[in-house]
Amino acid sequence: MNFAPELISLLRGISKLVALTGAGVSQESGLRTFRDAQTGLWAQYKPEELASPEAFRRDPKLVWDWYAWRREAVKGVRPNPGHYALAEMAKRVPEFILITQNVDGLHHMAGNQRLIELHGNIQRVRCAECYTFTETWGDDTKSVPQCSVCGGILRPDVVWFGESLPRDQLEAAVEAARTCEVFFSIGTSGVVQPAASLAFAAHSRGAVVVEINAEPTPLTPEANFALQGKSGEILPRLVEAVWG
Ligand code: OAD
Repeated sequence: MNFAPELISLLRGISKLVALTGAGVSQESGLRTFRDAQTGLWAQYKPEELASPEAFRRDPKLVWDWYAWRREAVKGVRPNPGHYALAEMAKRVPEFILITQNVDGLHHMAGNQRLIELHGNIQRVRCAECYTFTETWGDDTKSVPQCSVCGGILRPDVVWFGESLPRDQLEAAVEAARTCEVFFSIGTSGVVQPAASLAFAAHSRGAVVVEINAEPTPLTPEANFALQGKSGEILPRLVEAVWG
């Protein structure tokens, strides 16, 4: 892929860059995205049946087991070249902020220390009642494990449909989007709010918006540069073209 010379020279002189990632970035690691037809997780399961506070109240064990299954799936995967290219960008750009909607922890594993996790992290488990985090719990096959502090039931520390995003993470993301020079939107369908509005907020404040996605999204017509293809292929080439 040939990149526009304007994009290359812009990135060479950049001081503040923000990147927002979605499930597409982890697709090449072997994790399924949410909305891709046929293979998307949501194609097999209705989100309202599994990823909502109501579902957890109705059938906590079903929800706990589904997340346990996803947690195991995530443990078996590794970051891909797209994740590593973003870690490389963090070393090259003076102020680089990575915002992710992914709960898989792969950015952290690839070396991105400064990370805003908008939707939580599937490996973290906390009490649904008193919020205490725990790293160990029993494996009772019949019921959901309980909090050792208050006896409440445990749940994954992820954001469910109908729940608010962690306030500090959201505020940091909005501030980053409003003040960056370049905003990358990578591997996200851009249909889930409030994450989807970040690129538009950046654009309206004058930032150059770059989209990397396997297919067009609602952001594509607004993007200054829309690079269509796999992030695990485009990102390493872009890093090489700019800083190699
Ligand atoms: P989606 O599944 O909605 O979108 C994934 C996007 O990645 C699609 O636009 C794909 O075309 C694109 N894609 C797939 N493979 C790709 C690849 N190798 N390289 C580049 N792009 C690729 O996932 P998200 O936008 O992340 O929220 O979904 C947002 C939120 O919806 C999730 O965080 C989750 C879900 O409900 C919660 O669980 C709160």
